[in-house]
Amino acid sequence: MCRLLSGYIYNCAMFSLPIFVFFFASYSIYSADCLENGLARTPPMGWLAWERFRCNTDCKNDPDNCISENLFRTMSDILVAEGYAALGYNYINVDDCWLEKERNRYGQLVPDRQRFPRGMKSLADYVHSKGLKFGIYEDFGNYTCAGYPGVLGYLQTDAETFASWDVDYVKLDGCYAHPVEMDRGYPEFGFHLNRTGRPMIYSCSWPVYQIYAGMQPNFTSIIEHCNLWRNYDDIQDSWASVESIIDYYGNNQDVIVPNAGPGHWNDPDMI
Ligand SMILES: *[C@@H]1O[C@H](CO)[C@@H](O)[C@H](O)[C@H]1NC(C)=O
Ligand SMILES: *[C@@H]1O[C@H](CO)[C@@H](O)[C@H](O)[C@H]1NC(C)=O
Ligand SMILES: *[C@@H]1O[C@H](CO)[C@@H](O)[C@H](O)[C@H]1NC(C)=O
Repeated sequence: MCRLLSGYIYNCAMFSLPIFVFFFASYSIYSADCLENGLARTPPMGWLAWERFRCNTDCKNDPDNCISENLFRTMSDILVAEGYAALGYNYINVDDCWLEKERNRYGQLVPDRQRFPRGMKSLADYVHSKGLKFGIYEDFGNYTCAGYPGVLGYLQTDAETFASWDVDYVKLDGCYAHPVEMDRGYPEFGFHLNRTGRPMIYSCSWPVYQIYAGMQPNFTSIIEHCNLWRNYDDIQDSWASVESIIDYYGNNQDVIVPNAGPGHWNDPDMI
């Protein structure tokens, strides 16, 4: 049971370079069943690759800016060296475009062999050695947004794979999926994450795709199954984008605010 009795603005943090998770959330009187995996007692903060580095896979011509293990190692170093980690920005999160286009013969996900030659367990180990936590990206549908393999048909396998790599945080996007199936599918993947026994923050894109499809998301269920969830557009590399997200949250605060609290947060997308 999850009961929150006080209401106050929880956190509003914003960082300039290069991209930082930006969570403003407030919580208020709320009483419902919540996901209780002991994680995300405060909004998770850290660094995520998408806003700046997108799906740049061209390591041959652009080695310093392509999605590769080197990028995430470098960012881990910077998060610590420049003092962000000490302030609580302690997640290093991979986004889309880390995968090979095909699963292996056991049906498992395979990181891109050229760009992640040492594999994800090795990258997670490096991130952990810096005192940071490691996040990964997948998609509830048949494909990720950029066209790599999605989890449909492999929910248990992929949850187990992430646990075996010592992942701490899973973002599950919602491209190439039917929004009506998310009410069943997101909880199902959460069930498999839980079954691994490894605590992993579960970030869902469930409401935003349903809102785009004209549906009314069932936040009672979303809170029960996710540690955080996306409500609105991806952040872009511009102030106009940041402002539009702030406006969305401001204009919809009556619906959005009551859903947030320890263990379950609105996610206005990383900055
Ligand atoms: C995913 O693929 C399966 C099998 O090809 C198909 O039946 C299903 O409709 C696809 N789902 C979406 C959302 O495209
Ligand atoms: C699994 O779910 C149970 C019941 O909500 C919870 O107590 C436990 O901490 C969860 N375990 C993991 C690894 O998420
Ligand atoms: C929303 O989800 C809750 C919890 O899973 C469920 O009890 C309820 O029936 C759902 N509401 C609707 C309108 O589907």
